Amino acid sequence: MKHISVLTGAGISAESGVKTFRDHDGLWEGHDVMRVATPQGFEQNPKLVLDFYNQRRKQLKSVLPNQAHKPLVDLEKQYKVDIITQNVDDLHERAGSSSITHLHGELMKARSVKDEALIYDWTEDILPGHVNEEEHQLRPHVVWFGEAVPMMDKAIDIIKKTDIIIIIGTSMQVYPAAGLIDFAPEHTPIYFVDPDPSISESNSTNIIAEKATTGVEKVVKKLLDLS
Ligand code: APR
Repeated sequence: MKHISVLTGAGISAESGVKTFRDHDGLWEGHDVMRVATPQGFEQNPKLVLDFYNQRRKQLKSVLPNQAHKPLVDLEKQYKVDIITQNVDDLHERAGSSSITHLHGELMKARSVKDEALIYDWTEDILPGHVNEEEHQLRPHVVWFGEAVPMMDKAIDIIKKTDIIIIIGTSMQVYPAAGLIDFAPEHTPIYFVDPDPSISESNSTNIIAEKATTGVEKVVKKLLDLS
């Protein structure tokens, strides 16, 4: 069975109603990244940071996977499919994808500020004073700017073995995630779905300059016909 790696960013969740980061009216237009998405910001004002993620977690409960998440599940009928997502939402899980690697963590999980291995399913607000069994404060299980990306090695192992790459809804501006495709075998076919693509067409890169809900359907249909 051929192997497909799907690298997704905020754009795949845009049509579910989840804000992207760098588009017009994106999340980083309304919030200072340094204050809400860095360890320093958390140190300075933990309540501000916890509230920022509490709002996003609350909002996530009111949205659903869209017509871009779902066809990726259909692909699993004829391919081994690994989703590698920069998103912290749980829309790929709720759509039914079976292999998902979250490079930047998960909004519906919390972790100890002292031991990043202590991770807990957490769907409610995280408040100052919410501690784990070791009496350590909890924080969102999300990778902040300047922090390590523990799942990167796993993602590199996946991409090294891939036959086909689909990239959906990412500006390819944040490393190390954006550098992942450099680990793919040479000449691996890439399908890049984004209405405002940040990479150019090449002999192995097919640009589908469309929204995810139409572009992904087209790519999946082509790949299912091929197999
Ligand atoms: N369908 C597909 N792509 C879309 C859509 C859509 N409907 N709407 C917007 N996009 C594209 C934009 O053109 C852009 O290329 O989604 C991309 C969103 O880019 P960013 O906002 O930079 O999001 P992303 O690439 O996921 O950011 C990477 O940066 O802030 C950090 O940790 C955060 O995981 C995030 C990382």
